[in-house]
Amino acid sequence: MSGSQSSIESTLVENRVFEPAAEMAAGAAVSGMAAYEALYKEAETDLEGFWRKRAKENLVWSKPFTRVLDESNAPFYKWFDDGELNASANCLDRHMGTPTENKTAIIFESDDGQVTKVTYKELLSRVARFANVLKTQGVKRGDRVIIYMPMTIEGVVAMQACARIGATHSVVFGGFSAKALQERIIDVGAVAVLTANYQMRGGKELPLKSIVDEAMAMGGCEAVTSIVVYQRTPTDVNMVAGRDHFMDALLASESDVCPPEMVDAEHPLFVLYTSGSTGKPKGVQHATGGYLLWARMTMNWTFDLKDNDVFWCTADIGWITGHTYVAYGPLAAGATQIVFEGVPTFPNAGRFWQMIDRHKCTIFYTAPTAIRSLIKAAESDAAVHPKQSDLSSLRILGSVGEPINPEAWMWYHRHVGGERCPIVDTFWQTETGGHVITPLPGATPLVPGSCTLPLPGIMASIVDESGQDMPNGDGGILVIKRPWPSMIRTIWGDPERFKKSYFPDELGGTMYLAGDGAVRSKDRGYFRITGRIDDVLNVSGHRMGTMEIESALVAKTDLVAEAAVVGRPDDVTGEAIVAFVVLKGARPEGDEAKRIAKVLRDWVGTEIGPIAKPKEVRFGDNLPKTRSGKIMRRLLRTLAQGETITQDTSTLENPAILEQLAKAL
Ligand code: PRX
Repeated sequence: MSGSQSSIESTLVENRVFEPAAEMAAGAAVSGMAAYEALYKEAETDLEGFWRKRAKENLVWSKPFTRVLDESNAPFYKWFDDGELNASANCLDRHMGTPTENKTAIIFESDDGQVTKVTYKELLSRVARFANVLKTQGVKRGDRVIIYMPMTIEGVVAMQACARIGATHSVVFGGFSAKALQERIIDVGAVAVLTANYQMRGGKELPLKSIVDEAMAMGGCEAVTSIVVYQRTPTDVNMVAGRDHFMDALLASESDVCPPEMVDAEHPLFVLYTSGSTGKPKGVQHATGGYLLWARMTMNWTFDLKDNDVFWCTADIGWITGHTYVAYGPLAAGATQIVFEGVPTFPNAGRFWQMIDRHKCTIFYTAPTAIRSLIKAAESDAAVHPKQSDLSSLRILGSVGEPINPEAWMWYHRHVGGERCPIVDTFWQTETGGHVITPLPGATPLVPGSCTLPLPGIMASIVDESGQDMPNGDGGILVIKRPWPSMIRTIWGDPERFKKSYFPDELGGTMYLAGDGAVRSKDRGYFRITGRIDDVLNVSGHRMGTMEIESALVAKTDLVAEAAVVGRPDDVTGEAIVAFVVLKGARPEGDEAKRIAKVLRDWVGTEIGPIAKPKEVRFGDNLPKTRSGKIMRRLLRTLAQGETITQDTSTLENPAILEQLAKAL
C-alpha cells in the first residue's frame, strides 16, 4: 500500500444527473433503483443462496455443484468447486438446437474493411476443429498455451479451443516485445504457442511470428514443442521444421466434432499477465465456473443485452476486457457481436462511427482514451465527426479502463449517444474478472465521471489504511469485503505474492485490496475512482508498472546507472510516462540528450513493448534521495507535472538536484 492517498481532494462536485429514460427502464433486466436495491440486499443477506440460484440458471453444468463458496482456505476462495462444466460448451454448444444456432455470433471487420460473418453453428465447428488441432499437437487438459494473435475471429477461436479441451490459455497482447513474450512463456510453462505470421493494424503489416522466434531464441522456452501459425497475410515467414505448423494445413486434416472436456469449476480457464508494483508482471489466474457466470450475468445486468442487440466491445483479446466482453461474455449470452481488427483512426478517425452505422451497433463499449482522441480529431476535422454517421441504432454506451473525465463523458453522451443513451462507466480490473462497480442502464441515475454503485454481491467499501470504513465524502482505499465468483484465484506460481498484494494483513487478510483510491459522494454514496495508490500507471487504459519500466531502463547496462519512472496527467492518454535517468557517463545536454533519450525509449520498446515507451526522458546527475538512499518519487511526480515543489525537502540528501531535474528536454 505504498504511497496511498489519505487526503484525496473531494472538491470536484458534479451536479449533473441523468435519470434513466422511462422506455429504457421499462424493458431492462434491472428496472429502476428499487429493483437494484432489492438485488443488492438479496445478495447481502444470503450471498451463497444468491449465487447458487444464478449459477444454476445461467450456466450449463455436466455435473451440478453442491457447494457454493468454500472459505476454508481464505483468501484462496473456491466457488461451485464440486461442479463440472466446460466454458466453450457454455458459449457455443448450449445454443445448438435453439434459434441462436443460426444467429450471427461474430461480425468481423478487418483492418482494411472486409466484413466476414459467422453464425454460432459455424463458430462451434471452427472451435471444435481447432480444438482437435491442439489435441493432435499434443496439448492436453491442464497444459498452458500462449496465444499471441491478432484481433480476429481466429483469436477468439483459439481461446475457445483451449477452453474446449481444458487447456489454460494465456493471451499476450500483440504489442508486447519478444522479451515480454519470452518471460510469459516461461512463467506460465507453455507447451504451445498460437500465433500469426503478421497482424494488420492501421494499414501496416506488423510481425508476430518473427517475434515468437526471437522469444524462443532467448532460451528457457524448451517446453514449447509446437507453434501454430495463422497465415493472416500472404507474406512468408520463417518456419522451423517439426516445431512450426501452418494452422490451415493442420485444420484441413481434422474433424469439426470435438466433445468438450468437462472440468471442475475451479479449473484455471486462463492466466492473464498484468502489471503490479514490482518489476515482474503477475499472472492473474481465473477459474472456469465463477468467471463465466460473471461474464454472462454482467452482459445482462450492465449491458441489458437483448436478443436483437449488436454488441461491440473495442478491446483487444490481449486484455481482460477482450477476454470477458469479446471472447466469453457475448458468446455465453448468445449475442451478435462485432470484432474489429484495426485501430480507431484508420483510414480516418471516423472509423468507429462509420462501423456503428454500417453494422447497426446497439451497445458500444470503449475506453476513455479512444473517446478523447476521437474528440480531438472530430474537433479539427468535421469529416470524422460522429454526426457524419447515423448512430441512431445505439441504445447503450460503455466506458472502461480508466476514469472518464466529465467533459469526455458529456461529449460521448451528446455526440455519440444523441443524449438518448445511458453511459455505463464500468470500473473493474484484470483481477475482478468483470465489472464490479457500474451503473445499470435501466436503473441508475448517472453522474458524469462516477462509476456509481457496486453490482449485487460486491461488498465494495472505502477504508483507511487500517481497514476502518471512511465516511462518504472522504477519500480512501477501495476494497471489496466479501469474495465474488469471478475474482482472481491466485497469481500463477506465486500464492504468497497473491496474498500480500490483494489480501494484506494490515486490512485483516480477507478484504480484497483493489489498488485504487476512491471517494463516495456525500449525497448518493456514488463511487468515484481517484487513481491507483500503488506504483502502477494507466497509459491509454493500459496498465504499466513503473518498476517494470525502471527495470527495463537499468537493464541497458552500458548506458544507465539509475532510473526512476513516474506518471503525469495527460489530456489524451490519461497518464504519460516520465523517466528520470542517471547515466553512467556525463549528463547529456542538447542534441546529445535527445539522441540518448531516443535510444532509451526504443530500448524500452524492445524490452517491454511500444506501449511502455516513456513520453519524456529527463537526465540528472543524480535522483532526489533521502539520507537513507530512498528515491523520493513524490517529488519526481511534482516535477514531472511541471509544478513547483511545495513539499518538505528537508530530509533530502541532495536538494540541489531538483532544480536540474525540473527542466524538461
Ligand atoms: O485503476 C483502475 C483502472 O484500471 C485499473 C485496472 O486495469 P486493468 O487490470 O488493466 O483492467 C482494465 C479493464 C478493466 C483499475 O485498477 N480502471 C478500470 N476501469 C475504470 C478504472 N478507473 C476508473 N474508472 C473506471 N471505469
